[in-house]
Amino acid sequence: MDIKRVGVVGCGAMGSGIVQVSAQAGYQVTVRDINDEFLNRGLGMIKSSLQRDVDRSRMTAEDRDAIWGRIKGTTKLEDLADSDLIVEAAIEEIGEKRSIFGTLDRVCPPSTILSTNTSSLTVIEMAAATKRPQQVLGLHFFNPAQVMKLVEIVRTIVTSDEAVEVGRKYEESIGKTPVLAKDQPGFIVNRLLVPYLLDAIRVYQDGLASAQDIDQGMLLGCNHPMGPLALSDLIGLDVLLHVAESLHAELAEPRFAAPPLLKRMVMAGHLGRKTKRGFYAY
Ligand code: CAA
Repeated sequence: MDIKRVGVVGCGAMGSGIVQVSAQAGYQVTVRDINDEFLNRGLGMIKSSLQRDVDRSRMTAEDRDAIWGRIKGTTKLEDLADSDLIVEAAIEEIGEKRSIFGTLDRVCPPSTILSTNTSSLTVIEMAAATKRPQQVLGLHFFNPAQVMKLVEIVRTIVTSDEAVEVGRKYEESIGKTPVLAKDQPGFIVNRLLVPYLLDAIRVYQDGLASAQDIDQGMLLGCNHPMGPLALSDLIGLDVLLHVAESLHAELAEPRFAAPPLLKRMVMAGHLGRKTKRGFYAY
C-alpha cells in the first residue's frame, strides 16, 4: 500500500512533531485537535519550529512554505477520512481513544491503517473499538519527535503483517528507525527507562544528592545526553506518572511504583518544562 496522505489526531507536543516530520517527508497531512485554541497553538509550534530551521540556515524559505502548504488543520475527525494512515496522538485516556478509533473506523475507507502513539495504554483495547483490528498498530514516537530517531512499532496479537509493513515503510520514509515491540506494558523503551527515572526521583526524594548532581552524574558518568531529572521534566511529570502507574497496575513490580514526591509534584501542577516548573525552573 502506498501512503500519500497522513492524518494526525492531536496537535500537542507529540502530535505537532509527528505532523512536522511527516510534512517534511512530503506527505499531505491533516491534523485534528478538539478546538481552535488547541489547534492553533499546535500549528503555531510547527510554524516556529520550521522558522527556527530557516533562521539557522537548515532549511530554505521555499521549503518552509512548501512544507507548511502540505499541512491542514481541522477540528473534525471526519476530515481525516481521506488519509491512508492515521496516527492518533490525543490525550492518554482510554475512553477518549476508543471513541476516536470508533469514529475513525466509521468514517475511513476499509483500506486506512489506524495507529496510536500511546506510551502507556494497550493497543488492542483501541483496536477492539474498530471493525478492523488487524489494521491497528502502535507507532510510538519519542520526545522531541522532530529529533528522536526511534519509533517503536507495536504489534498486537491480531495486527496483520501488512499493517506492520506499512508502519515500517512510513517510519523509514520520514527518517525514523523502527523497532518492533509486542503490545505489552511499556513496550521496549519505557519498560527499561521508567524504573531508571523513578529510581533517580527516589534518590532525589531521599536527599541522597541534589538534582544537579544526580543529572551531572549520569551526564558525565554515563555519557547520557541529559540527566534523568531533566529528562523527566522534558517528558512531563504527569506523563511519567501515568506511564509508571499503568506499568505498575499490570506488572505489579515495586520498581514501577511511583515515588510519593512524583505524585505530589503532579498534584502541585509542577509538570516539568511545559509548566515551566519541575525538578528545575524554566
Ligand atoms: N523540539 C524540536 N526540536 C528540538 C527540541 C524540541 N523540543 N529540542 C531540541 N531540538 C532540536 C533542535 O533542532 C536543536 O537545535 P537548535 O537549537 O539549533 O534549533 C537540536 O535539537 C539540539 O538541541 P539543543 O542544542 O537544545 O540541545 P541538545 O543538543 O542537548 O539536544 C535533546 C536536545 C535532543 C532533547 C537531547 O538532550 C536528547 O536527546 N535528550 C534525550 C531525549 C530523550 O531521551 N527522549 C526520550 C524521552 S522518553 C519518551 O519520549 C517516551 C515516552 O513515552 C515517555
